Amino acid sequence: MYGRRDVLRAGAALGLLAASPVLRAESPSGLLTRKIPSTGEALPVIGAGTSGSFEVEAGSSQYQQLKEVLSVFFRGGGKVIDTSPNYGGADAILGQLLEEGGWHRQCFIATKIAADSKDAAASQWADSLKSLRTDKVDLLQIHNLRDWQRQLPYAQELKKQGKTRYVGITHYLASGQGAVADILREHPLDFIQINYSVNAPDAARELLPLAADKGVAVLINRAFDDGRLFSRIKDQPLPGWAAEAGIGSWAQLFLKFAISHPAVTTVIPATGRPDRQLDQLKAGAGPLLSEAQQKALIQQFA
Ligand SMILES: NC(=O)c1ccc[n+]([C@@H]2O[C@H](COP(=O)([O-])OP(=O)(O)OC[C@H]3O[C@@H](n4cnc5c(N)ncnc54)[C@H](OP(=O)(O)O)[C@@H]3O)[C@@H](O)[C@H]2O)c1
Repeated sequence: MYGRRDVLRAGAALGLLAASPVLRAESPSGLLTRKIPSTGEALPVIGAGTSGSFEVEAGSSQYQQLKEVLSVFFRGGGKVIDTSPNYGGADAILGQLLEEGGWHRQCFIATKIAADSKDAAASQWADSLKSLRTDKVDLLQIHNLRDWQRQLPYAQELKKQGKTRYVGITHYLASGQGAVADILREHPLDFIQINYSVNAPDAARELLPLAADKGVAVLINRAFDDGRLFSRIKDQPLPGWAAEAGIGSWAQLFLKFAISHPAVTTVIPATGRPDRQLDQLKAGAGPLLSEAQQKALIQQFA
């Protein structure tokens, strides 16, 4: 377990000066940003996910830790948070935390529709707004392409009504990327959300260049392969070149790999730990990885 002192030390190392009762931080940390092609709006390259890590009980000690996670995240310049009505109540926990922390205005909320009929989607959407404690979101995505032929037009309809500013589709496996590419070729989208990591780099071949070509923003999920990459590295040291690239941990290296592709807008790693949140934000500053460094990582994790 991390201690409060560790978090404060890590915060100081990141250049975040303390300001909240939890972790005082003053100014955005100089996170790189990328533009959403459909509007030119800039988003920080490091965002956050909520699957698993936000599936906690309101008021529990884990909930209090998440409050620290979000405090660190917003004070460090973070903005984009991804959730879903399918994540075991994570969206309601996020909504409660945003309200309690007064963070709704700072947050770019990305959520999803995961339903099999228009009626089910409408009822799920009403619940989502309640859970997230808002009357609109920033991005509404079709979760894992589920019933997308019906749900994508519904999401576009909600966009026209001003209920969401952007519309997208998601998948989490390389095997789903062909279908994502087909939809991307034929339908107007603001965002896609896909997996991309050192051990699953397939998206760089076709889908990421296609997204850039089509002018569509990209969120990256599973940059840690759902945490599995950490058990693979165990005690291995970082590559010799990591320090020169300003990288101090494997988590930073995995995130830096994701954002080094120019078509990527924001990577959304999940964590329920404030010390890890601080570490993740550090990946959003400094030089990107060269092609040779990216290739070396892909080889190492093949
Ligand atoms: N189809 C979809 O739309 C789809 C699918 C998958 C994911 N997503 C979105 O993308 C987000 C990210 O994907 P993901 O959550 O599946 O996977 P991920 O970000 O690759 O990994 C998250 C896991 O890594 C662990 N972790 C984080 N930092 C760590 C560190 N320094 N050392 C060891 N473990 C660490 C976290 O545990 P702790 O909490 O204990 O730190 C968590 O269990 C999701 O939360 C979700 O919002 C969307």
